[in-house]
This record gives sequence, C-alpha cells and structure tokens, in this order.
Amino acid sequence: MQTISDTKQNDKKYVADTYARFDIELVSGKGSLVYDDTGREYIDLSTGIAVNTLGVVDAEWCAAVTAQLGAYQHTSNLYYSAPQATLARLLCERTGAKRVFFGNSGAEANECAIKVARKWAQDERGAGDYTIITLKNSFHGRTITTLKATGQDVFHTDFGPFPDGFAYAEPNNLDSVRAIAEAQPCCAVMMELVQGEGGVVALEPEFVLGVCELAREKNMLVIIDEVQTGNGRSGSLYAFMEYGITPDVVTTAKGLGGGLPIGACMLFERVENTLGRGSHGSTFGGNPVAAAGAVSIISRIDSALLAEVKEKSKYIFDSLTGAEGIKSVTGMGLMIGIETEKDSSAVLAECMRRGILPIKAKSKLRLLPALNIPWELLRRAVEIIKEAAKND
Ligand SMILES: Cc1ncc(COP(=O)(O)O)c(C=O)c1O
Repeated sequence: MQTISDTKQNDKKYVADTYARFDIELVSGKGSLVYDDTGREYIDLSTGIAVNTLGVVDAEWCAAVTAQLGAYQHTSNLYYSAPQATLARLLCERTGAKRVFFGNSGAEANECAIKVARKWAQDERGAGDYTIITLKNSFHGRTITTLKATGQDVFHTDFGPFPDGFAYAEPNNLDSVRAIAEAQPCCAVMMELVQGEGGVVALEPEFVLGVCELAREKNMLVIIDEVQTGNGRSGSLYAFMEYGITPDVVTTAKGLGGGLPIGACMLFERVENTLGRGSHGSTFGGNPVAAAGAVSIISRIDSALLAEVKEKSKYIFDSLTGAEGIKSVTGMGLMIGIETEKDSSAVLAECMRRGILPIKAKSKLRLLPALNIPWELLRRAVEIIKEAAKND
C-alpha cells in the first residue's frame, strides 16, 4: 500500500516538474466535498479548474460513463459511434452550430479553430489573409500555436520559433481591434468573453458587439474560446448567449466532459463545410466514454440549473463585494475572481487551512465551484473566504 510520502516522493522525483503543487493529495470525494489522504474534508471551489461540472462522482455521470465502459471503451473515428453523434446533435441543437469537431482538450479545440480560420481564409479570401486578432491578457492553451495566440508576452519565450499570424488588440478597446484589421488582412478575431487565466475579467458587452460588427464589415470570423466559460459556468449554456451574439466558431473543453478529457470545436454556418475529409483528425477525439459523460452533463444543464447558477453567483457577489479586505469581485456566473487587500497567496493558504479549496488567477483568488454546489456548502465557503480575507 502506497503512503502519502510515496506519492510525494515519486511525484517529485519522476513527474516533470512543471506544476507548483499544493501540499495536499486528494484521494476521493462526493459532490462538492473532497477528501485528502488523511481523511480531511474540504469544500471544493475549483472543480479541477472548471472540469467537474456537477461535482465529484456524480451518480448519473458515473452511470453513463460506466455503462459505456461496459460496452466498448474506444473506437477509432473510422467507425460511427453513438455517444459522439448524440453529443454533436445536442451541442448543435442547443447552440445553433451546424457541426462539431471533437478533440481531447481546450488547446486542441483552439488549434482546430485556428486551422478552420486559416482554411476558410484560403477558400474565401486569399492565402495571405491568415492573421487572427486575439486580445492582450488572453489565454488560449499550451501548444506552440495556442501559446502564440495567447496575448501575453510571458508565454512567448523559450519555445520559439512560433508560427506567424497573430496580432494582439487591447481588450475593451474597439479602436485597437480596428487598427489591426485595417493595417493588414485578418481572417478572424478570437477571444474569451471572460478572461479566465488573465484574472477572471468579463469583456464589456459594447466591445463584444462592436467586435462582431467589425468582423462582419471586414469579412472576418468571430471565434469564441469557451474552454473555461462554457457548459453552464457563465449562467447560460455558453457565455456567447449572455452577450446575445452569433459567433462563427465556439471552442470548449474542461466542463464539457464533467471529468474526462474531451474538447469540441463548434462550427457555425459560415464554416460548416470548411473542414473536409482528411483535413483534420484525432485518434481519441470524441472517445465514446468521454462523450457519454459529456452527454450526461450537457443534457442536465437546463434552465433550472442555469437559474441556480445565476442565483448563486449573485449571492457570492453580494456577500463579498465591499467585505473587509476585499477590493473587488469580478467575473460571471460561477467563474469569479476576488481581489484582496492582503496577498492572495496568503488568503488562499488561510482558506485551505480552514477547509476550502479555491485557486488563484493572476493575483486574485478564483472560484469555480460545481454548478450544483449545495447552498449550505456555498454559504459556509463564503463565510470562510470573508474571514480569510480580513486584514490581520
Ligand atoms: C480559455 C482557455 N482556453 C484554452 C485553455 C487550454 O485548455 P487545456 O488545458 O484543456 O488545453 C484554457 C485552460 O485553462 C483556457 O482557460
């Protein structure tokens, strides 16, 4: 039987040292409660970074996943598979997309979106029109191309040469987007509606509407990265619905699978036929077990659950805004950033000591609880955050 020290020793010695891990080993959970190897209970406020949409080992999700596991765990994309087809239908019916390409992660979904934009530009505009405008402070993934799409210089070191074809505009500054679109031929604008890793900051609605109008005027695609905002987290099924816009491409991952890796690139009318046979692929993309889990998640994100997300969001904003030691509360739905007067790492450590597990986004505390977190746990967690944020 392995002990905690074995896990830590093995991890420290054998796992690539890319993560600054907290000193906790989680071993089990149920709903919004998780347990470490010593049996200590925590309220989970980060759900594996917006992944466990309906909590840990949700009974219906487990049943859907295990039923599929008992049938077949994987089939290549050379054959039809019911979970993938059903998930694609659900996503299209609920978003207005026409087709979906499945991968395994957010970065892969964004890679697909970038390929779609480049191919669409070649087909519709001209081979040189490949530049995609993204926003400063954005985050789009860790592959070479999605690192370059990410509008933060800190991600553009070490791994060069990076692919050409990205230009960075200021968020909430339409003139900055326009200036890039007028200086060179651009095929798309790609943005997160709430910049998650960038500090949980929602874009202003007038800016988003302005970008969409500009995109129509300049014949550019609108790509919305909903890897983190998607799948009910914003209070709508996808955050673009909160803004009342019709994008051309929407990417998602994280919460889609409810805990198993799956990513989706949703293709709307203008690009529904851009990817032809052989133009893209993925061995594991749309894996039946992950897709069965995703069907279980998406089919339960209904208007009642979304109303609950909004109610809980309002409760968090109302309770924390203006509380002692809290400078600001930002975000949307159950994707919330908390700016504290004290150093947020110290507040986070105190939260953990008191039995709750938020995470950080830049210098803020970040909350990404399960959409169905019970009210009683949420209230308890909010009180702990208030106590932890108080000035000493
Ligand atoms: C908005 C956004 N896009 C893309 C990604 C990359 O997703 P993944 O880690 O699944 O590749 C993330 C991950 O945090 C994200 O928040």
